[in-house]
Amino acid sequence: MQREKWASRLGLILAMAGNAVGLGNFLRFPTQAAQNGGGVFMIPYMISMLLIAIPLMWVEWGIGRYGGIKGHGTTPAIFPLLWKHPLSKYVGVLGLFVPFVVVCYYMYIESWTLGYAIMSVTGMLPAPSSHMVGSEAYLKPFQDMLNAYTGMGKGDIYQPSAMAYGIFVLTVFLNILILIKGISGGIEKLAKLAMPSLFAMALILMIRVLTLETPQGSAIDGLNFLWSPDWTQLSNPRVWLAAAGQVFFTLSLGFGAIITYASYLKKNDDIVISGLSASALNELAEVILGGSIAIPAAAAFFGILAAQNIAASGAFNLAFVSLPAIFANIPFGQLFGFLWFTLLFFAGLTSSVAITQPIIAFLEDEFKLSRTVAVISTMSVLFAVAQVPIFLGSALDEMDFWAGTFFVVIFALVEILIFFWAFGSRKAWKEINRGAIVKVPRFFFPVMKFITPVFLSVILLWWIFDVLPDYLKNGNWTVWIAREVLVGIAFFLGLLVYISQKKNRRRR
Ligand code: ALA
Repeated sequence: MQREKWASRLGLILAMAGNAVGLGNFLRFPTQAAQNGGGVFMIPYMISMLLIAIPLMWVEWGIGRYGGIKGHGTTPAIFPLLWKHPLSKYVGVLGLFVPFVVVCYYMYIESWTLGYAIMSVTGMLPAPSSHMVGSEAYLKPFQDMLNAYTGMGKGDIYQPSAMAYGIFVLTVFLNILILIKGISGGIEKLAKLAMPSLFAMALILMIRVLTLETPQGSAIDGLNFLWSPDWTQLSNPRVWLAAAGQVFFTLSLGFGAIITYASYLKKNDDIVISGLSASALNELAEVILGGSIAIPAAAAFFGILAAQNIAASGAFNLAFVSLPAIFANIPFGQLFGFLWFTLLFFAGLTSSVAITQPIIAFLEDEFKLSRTVAVISTMSVLFAVAQVPIFLGSALDEMDFWAGTFFVVIFALVEILIFFWAFGSRKAWKEINRGAIVKVPRFFFPVMKFITPVFLSVILLWWIFDVLPDYLKNGNWTVWIAREVLVGIAFFLGLLVYISQKKNRRRR
């Protein structure tokens, strides 16, 4: 069976940008930046972008295109082509584990954005009186609303509202509809529609926010906070970890998703400029648009200190509490609220289809399942596992910690070592540059071979010695169940890889 291909270069770049631009850009980035001192955060962020993200991005495009030519779109099958070792396929399980675990909670958060878009336009969000602006009481109804919607913050078992659950089912269904139509017929078409709309909505919101001014402050205070570097904080390892973690998450690096998307390229398709263009679109969406909405708006309405406190009090508060509270108090606020949550939904949707695709590709390529059967099986298991973060307190954070923060770095280190050391740096370099109109600057060769792996190793060691011991001390029974589920998923995927390999050997 012929593997699918992207229909056009523009479609590919938009799909890859859609893969990257997600909730991470508009929700995670402002929260991380505010929690880590604003301008302080941006220096390690830029350095991580240059020394980790850009090199890894080309490595992932290169690995993916190489695998695709040989009929494989996921690492359990591609790693053995690059590194002839019996362990390579099991190391490759990470390329299924990370995206699968992430998408199980990601799609749930994505569904909140759809729910909130509906509530904004139908006037279901709270409307407190304007004289309370600036006081804590003003935010409370919005916080209560989020707690009631998600059922979070009430004991170990969450009870989401019927609407939240229903909209999650709808979100899963919408993802199925797109995925079932395939790469060019579903994902590429979605990207061509969603990405330009997303940029247009973000631009409108940015202009609105940057002209906000109240007695508490102005949006420009928020921008100043984000763009005034404090060099003394550069020696703080936690800021570095947060920045490196953010570049991974925002570009979907170490997720296996770029590799799978790149496997649908043709042999001589350019990856140097295409990869850079998709990443540049992501950075535009993150640093310029993402950085100019949530924090500046909160700074204008509540003052910069309060904006930092809102961000520090939880990852979802800037997006689901403070922004709706602000929109409730400006002309046409209902419309701006709708734009904001629709923008988030489009960002989430174009990423969730990308991080679901590796499992689907694995079932299609290695088990020769039809697309429909692969999509339905993947989504059924995803739906079952998603019940864990939906109902179990702290499970979402636990899954995000292991898959979305820890294993992405391990996986990234493994892939660059396999490509540049096991496969061979010269062959890897040639592979990346094949078909390129403009070659990768020579500067990146030693970066990819030495600096990125060393940088990643240092981050990992920091994690292991600085963050993990404290982290492992905490945790109630729900956290332990979440951990057991994660181990179960890893075993299950490992078993699938084992079976697929046996089957394929017999077939040969
Ligand atoms: N890269 C995706 C995001 O930023 C996962 O949300």
